[in-house]
Amino acid sequence: MKLLEQLQWRYATKRFAPEKKISKEQLLELKEAIRLAPTSFGLQPFKVFVVQDYDIRKKLQEYAWNQPQIVECSHLLVFACKEECTRKDVDEYIQLIASVRKLPVEALNDFKEMMYGWIDKMTPEQMEEWTTRQVYLALGVALTATATMQIDACPMEGFDPIAFDEILDIRSKGYGTKVLIAIGHRSDIDHTQSMKKVRKGVDELFDENY
Ligand SMILES: Cc1cc2nc3c(=O)[nH]c(=O)nc-3n(C[C@H](O)[C@H](O)[C@H](O)COP(=O)(O)O)c2cc1C
Repeated sequence: MKLLEQLQWRYATKRFAPEKKISKEQLLELKEAIRLAPTSFGLQPFKVFVVQDYDIRKKLQEYAWNQPQIVECSHLLVFACKEECTRKDVDEYIQLIASVRKLPVEALNDFKEMMYGWIDKMTPEQMEEWTTRQVYLALGVALTATATMQIDACPMEGFDPIAFDEILDIRSKGYGTKVLIAIGHRSDIDHTQSMKKVRKGVDELFDENY
């Protein structure tokens, strides 16, 4: 399938077939795609919690408008942002670049100072907004990746992030839940799969008069 066909094939799946699971290899490929998502400076200020346990998902469902995807999907991906991105995170990133690219850390001094300057000037609210933008980029990459892999997915904002943080003990790890993707395979009973896509026209969405 070509990219546009794959993007037509995908839809926000409402009902998954619970018996159809994502394989370990598929999950690995998807994790790799998310890992390769671009982020500002490359700092990747987020973590994805992968929830499979049925009992935990049953608890989470209560705080996600009882949406069936939470329990019927194969895996629930919980995208969470770092609560605070600090100079320590920058230092760790610099070490990583130096080791991967076999560079002396001193060669990265200007880059490090630029990142320090960027994160130092942010208020906690700006920091949260910025990290959230990074995680949504990863969400977009994940949704395109699932489409190309013929994995069904539903991005989800319809949930209570505070309850998710509590149930999954995410705050204690320094993160806060932002958005979810339920992944798996569509069920035949999901009537939304046959609905036409509703999108603005290209002429409305783009302005080429420049
Ligand atoms: C960030 C985000 C959050 C969403 N939250 C939900 C949700 O909680 N439940 C749901 O059923 N669909 C959710 N959707 C799906 C959208 O309604 C859907 O993507 C949109 O209507 C376009 O339809 P399509 O994805 O099937 O093409 C969400 C989509 C996005 C991108």
